[in-house]
Amino acid sequence: MTELVKSFVLNKVQHIELNRADKKNALIAEMYWALKQALVDAKNNPEVHVILFKGGENCFCAGNDISDFLDESVLDADGPIATFLHELADVNKPMIAAVSGPAIGIGTTLLLHCDLVFATNKAVFSLPFVNLGVCAEAGSSFLLARQVGHLRAAELILSGNSFDAVKAKEYGIINAIIDENSYWQFAQEQAEVLAQKPLQALMTNKRLMKVDNKKLHQAIDQEITEFSNLLKAEEAKAIFKKFLSR
Ligand code: COA
Repeated sequence: MTELVKSFVLNKVQHIELNRADKKNALIAEMYWALKQALVDAKNNPEVHVILFKGGENCFCAGNDISDFLDESVLDADGPIATFLHELADVNKPMIAAVSGPAIGIGTTLLLHCDLVFATNKAVFSLPFVNLGVCAEAGSSFLLARQVGHLRAAELILSGNSFDAVKAKEYGIINAIIDENSYWQFAQEQAEVLAQKPLQALMTNKRLMKVDNKKLHQAIDQEITEFSNLLKAEEAKAIFKKFLSR
């Protein structure tokens, strides 16, 4: 059990919260395992109708912990990241995220698996993979283009530039921009409204919208293979070491 991820059920909503504020909610192996377990719990619990995902108020998630990338085994097929990502792709109940502050790497790609995403004006999104010498992950090479179209996906992935909530809304990555003082309450209310609806109908409609899930799993595996190869190269190693020796 880790304290770095909190998971509990309230009013038919499985709350999943990142709790590593001192490291800007950068994800390490034990957090991926805990996140995966929280998703399994949500799937298996008939009392849970909706999943609500929260990062920190000042930083949603700074992406994967960069020091973990120096350990190449972190991306093994049965390792924490791959296991979590495949579970994420199989989530069978509506998933909602509430974002404030930076959402970097998996902090943004996780949102592509959600069904409703709310963000404050303080949210900053980024897919910095090219600039780190690696490639897109979490199925984002597939999901982002499907969600926003190829040109916009290519712009965000190839440039790695960060973007604000206004652009995220324009591109269709978030549903709405909510005042920072009320965004969490708003997200909770939206989750609880959905949670009152008939569970089988929610799940069936979600499943129907995920007809190409096989392709998503393939994309996740393909990305992990390419990511692992790029991680072994000096190009990426030098970039990560530079960040860690700031
Ligand atoms: N991996 C490891 N440690 C991280 C991290 C990451 N992805 N993101 C932040 N941290 C750590 C910092 O090293 C620092 O640790 P320290 O206090 O022991 O020195 C701490 O979290 C606070 O980060 P800091 O950079 O001082 O905060 P900030 O408010 O100035 O900036 C970010 C916040 C998120 C913008 C910045 O930390 C950042 O760019 N992180 C890297 C994001 C990234 O490239 N992720 C990889 C995606 S694949």
